[in-house]
Amino acid sequence: MAASSFLFTLLLVLLTFSDSTVKILGLGVGINYGQIANNLPSPSRVAFLLRSLNISRVKLYDADPNVLMAFSNSNVDFIIGLGNEYLQNMTDPVKAQNWILQRVQPHLPQTRITCIVVGNEVFKGNDKQLWNNLLPAMQTVYNTLVNLGLDKQVTVTTAHSLDILGVSYPPSAGAFRQDLGEYLHAILNFHAQIKSPFLINAYPYFAYKDNPNEVQIEYVLFQPNQGMVDPVTNLRYDNMLFAQVDAVYSAIRQMGHTDIEVRVSETGWPSKGDENEVGATPENAGLYNGNLLKKIEQKQGTPAKPNVPIDIHVFALFNENLKPGPASERNYGLYYPDGTPVYNIGVQGYLPELVYSSPSTKNEFSVFSLLILVIAYLISA
Ligand SMILES: *[C@@H]1O[C@H](CO)[C@@H](O)[C@H](O)[C@H]1NC(C)=O
Ligand SMILES: *[C@@H]1O[C@H](CO)[C@@H](O)[C@H](O)[C@H]1NC(C)=O
Repeated sequence: MAASSFLFTLLLVLLTFSDSTVKILGLGVGINYGQIANNLPSPSRVAFLLRSLNISRVKLYDADPNVLMAFSNSNVDFIIGLGNEYLQNMTDPVKAQNWILQRVQPHLPQTRITCIVVGNEVFKGNDKQLWNNLLPAMQTVYNTLVNLGLDKQVTVTTAHSLDILGVSYPPSAGAFRQDLGEYLHAILNFHAQIKSPFLINAYPYFAYKDNPNEVQIEYVLFQPNQGMVDPVTNLRYDNMLFAQVDAVYSAIRQMGHTDIEVRVSETGWPSKGDENEVGATPENAGLYNGNLLKKIEQKQGTPAKPNVPIDIHVFALFNENLKPGPASERNYGLYYPDGTPVYNIGVQGYLPELVYSSPSTKNEFSVFSLLILVIAYLISA
């Protein structure tokens, strides 16, 4: 009894100490927790790291039960994902129901799953079967949630790459690609019907990398710059991300909808790239994400939607060493897998170590290590 209350007090003291040594985020920013790597810390340690950062919104690309379990009774809101390889099956109500019963329902309500992203960047490729399955899969998953009485807590959407735009500049002229018109029209009707957001993965980095001589670096990094004025609306844009979001709003409006919110399900900047990947540096990544966090903290909206604070999940929490593609793909993380920041954005997280892990060469203070030592001492005493 005395021992446990002593421990509890000690834990509080230690947590208080560790909290006071980090600057807390508390910005309402979300983060993408990608796991295409073989060297990431366990989900329970990640839960600790996110708590030290005060990040309470996480997006997964799957429904990893280990992660969802590690965050039970936490205050973290989860967006979970169904990969494109599931779309065909999810058009079958029996398989959709099985998936929800096995992968989602067991975690509710102790883990706060708020949204299922059905498919990721489906229109980026040319797989017409995938295109055709997308909306039926979204509808079937949604209908299953309704049948199970879960639709009030969990919503359904999908995430698009910006390749769905045929026109993106100026923002007021934003329009979807013509070959996607009928698909997106039907998807937008679905969003309006169930009141779910339209998600885009938006990377000003791609525009800069493809055209570093034309695209002003300040404009893509949220640094002070002249910006550009939309000739139709007279709205001034001083950063590309907000222009991209407003281009999507315009494209949606062209399809007859003003009732759907656009959210950024991924954005980020790589800290490292191949030789031909211009701009992929820790300095630029730090500026991009650091400046973006400030905008989120200030609850800024885009010029066309000034009263709707931008809703963003940054990509990504960790560098992911097994991602295929150019070097940049493996270097979007804010953190190395050992919990040290890749660059300084003015906030420091804390990843506890385990006492039985190999001896640390780092000099950071480990709450977990100390706590486990104390417990071991009390047990032996
Ligand atoms: C943590 O973030 C939430 C919003 O996400 C905010 O309301 C709260 O004040 C933050 N806490 C700290 C200690 O910054
Ligand atoms: C789709 O369903 C089939 C038949 O039940 C199953 O064998 C297959 O593994 C499923 N695909 C995925 C990606 O789960």
